[in-house]
Amino acid sequence: MIILGFESSCDETGVALVCTERGVLAHTLHTQVAMHAAYGGVVPELASRDHVRRIIGLTRSALTQASLELSDVDAVAYTAGPGLAGALLVGAGVAQSIAWSLDKPAFGIHHLEGHLLSPRLADPKPEFPFVALLVSGGHTQLMLVKGVGDYEMLGETLDDAAGEAFDKTAKLMGLGYPGGPALARLAESGEPDRFDLPRPLLNRGGLDFSFSGLKTAVMQRVKGLGGLDAMPDKDKADLAAATQAAIVDVLVAKSLLALRQTKARRLVVAGGVGANQRLRSRLLAETSQRRLEVFFPPVALCTDNGAMIAYAAAERVNAGLLHAHGPSDLFDIKP
Ligand code: KG4
Ligand code: ZN
Repeated sequence: MIILGFESSCDETGVALVCTERGVLAHTLHTQVAMHAAYGGVVPELASRDHVRRIIGLTRSALTQASLELSDVDAVAYTAGPGLAGALLVGAGVAQSIAWSLDKPAFGIHHLEGHLLSPRLADPKPEFPFVALLVSGGHTQLMLVKGVGDYEMLGETLDDAAGEAFDKTAKLMGLGYPGGPALARLAESGEPDRFDLPRPLLNRGGLDFSFSGLKTAVMQRVKGLGGLDAMPDKDKADLAAATQAAIVDVLVAKSLLALRQTKARRLVVAGGVGANQRLRSRLLAETSQRRLEVFFPPVALCTDNGAMIAYAAAERVNAGLLHAHGPSDLFDIKP
């Protein structure tokens, strides 16, 4: 069965063709990062309009890449939510229309299910069960993934996502948008221990996160150092390193606690923050000491893309779980 998948929940337009037997056949993506950078963050109205501009062209390219015709498609999958309402409607509208024109089913897929299952597109493929640390600009969650459609939320952020914490502190340090990679680069030349920043909820037993206090703490440091313009490069690098260390410490500690609590032996890291080198090296060191496994699938599979949506639909088809219409009912999809 060939599934055409669409992702348009935020600032990436992703289209893919996935075969339930052979995996990904084609995958095209347009990122709007450059367009939103001028505004310092995603502008929902511009995001929706850009999805409209790109989505058909990307679909054509995906079909060409796979040497397929639209009529070869057996089902259409799209991100039903959560995400920006206008942006989601573009993918949903196009997917439903194509499905209707072909007289094939359209499957609404939960965005997070796409993230949770997409690491299984990688080689080596993490087998169930595993704990997933989902860390992106929009989400910070720990989930126990027992099988397709069998997910248990272990903990999540009570306020900002980890990527958002990187982006917001980077912004107040004048590093542009998205600031995560820039802050990580600056942190390379800094000393993480010079500034003592809070590790929110680190020593509270649960698996929830809270990052919003961190940007306030960083702002206070910047003020204490006489403001951004007065700070020498060394101060900026040290503050970036301390910020990164604070975020990473919390993510590592909670991931290990989740593994301990669930007795799972595998950890999968998904989402854009999974590209962070400090997070990777700390998790590798800590898990290997405990004879646990950690998987870092290629970042291209873990950030928003159409392949993860088509693939989640394919896994559901293979597991005999797919509902012929409507969104997957495992999560309450909120905007
Ligand atoms: O998964 P993703 O591409 O998009 C969604 O948010 O859904 O994640 C993007 C997030 C941004 O907040 C970005 O700053 C962060 O991932 N990010 C990083 C790094 N690369 C991307 N954060 C820290 N270190 C990095 N190397
Ligand atoms: Zn996402």
